[in-house]
Amino acid sequence: MKIIQSICEMKDYRAGITNDKRVGFVATMGALHQGHLSLIQASIAANDYTIVSIFVNPTQFGANEDFGAYPRTLEADIALCERAGVSTIFAPNVDDMYDDDEVGLFAPKKMGYILEGFDRPTHFAGVLQVVLKLFCLIKPHCAYFGQKDAQQVLILQKMVCDLFLDIEIVPCPIQRDSDGLALSSRNVYLSVSERQKALCIPRTIMLIKKSILQGEREVATLRAMALQSLQSEDITLFYAQFCNHKLEPITHIVENESIFLIAAKVGQTRLLDNLWI
Ligand code: PAF
Repeated sequence: MKIIQSICEMKDYRAGITNDKRVGFVATMGALHQGHLSLIQASIAANDYTIVSIFVNPTQFGANEDFGAYPRTLEADIALCERAGVSTIFAPNVDDMYDDDEVGLFAPKKMGYILEGFDRPTHFAGVLQVVLKLFCLIKPHCAYFGQKDAQQVLILQKMVCDLFLDIEIVPCPIQRDSDGLALSSRNVYLSVSERQKALCIPRTIMLIKKSILQGEREVATLRAMALQSLQSEDITLFYAQFCNHKLEPITHIVENESIFLIAAKVGQTRLLDNLWI
């Protein structure tokens, strides 16, 4: 497995991959877990090369967020990628990735400043900026992203569409721990008792899934159920919202077109979970 840090080397490496080969890409901020591994495996299964970027991107963190504290576990990440059969890790440093007078991107006005973007108004511009830069360097055919970050997946799909990029965004299912909590690099921040409280989030997802499978389609009824279930623990709920794929609120569930998104703070940790219906 190749480990590349410099932009020039990445460009040279990519130029050496012939046009008949397919390149899959998994963008990460490191602290890799089974969720990332499932993206890597999906890419390896469908492509000749799988390139994984490891870069804690400063532009997607707000001023008071956890950029400094974000877990950095490069050695373990390299070992996981090696074992999985990744072709190349790209781990650039911040100064090489960004100029101090950088051309920027705006998040879409309707999709980018609601839900996660409401509480974190600079977040999606930062995600778009780094992912577009990585796409320009890596030129993947397919890029794999976890459905846990549902809004991120939908906004990246919009970017690819709006900028006419020839890249397929492949959403991959949420991976969960044995207790049901959606895997996230930020779960390491949770104490044992916080984790216990956090479990009301996957419990609520399961409850909503079950009700929908039993035929409930009324969002008002489902939302009341969800709020009651989420209020069973001492967590701070940011949102529990039923939307379509444009992230517009809906009143009725439509299969393959609806998502239920939850964000909540448990202790100091912001957790996301969702159900693609
Ligand atoms: O989902 C993430 O880990 C990040 O937002 C991403 C896509 C790697 C961009 O920094």
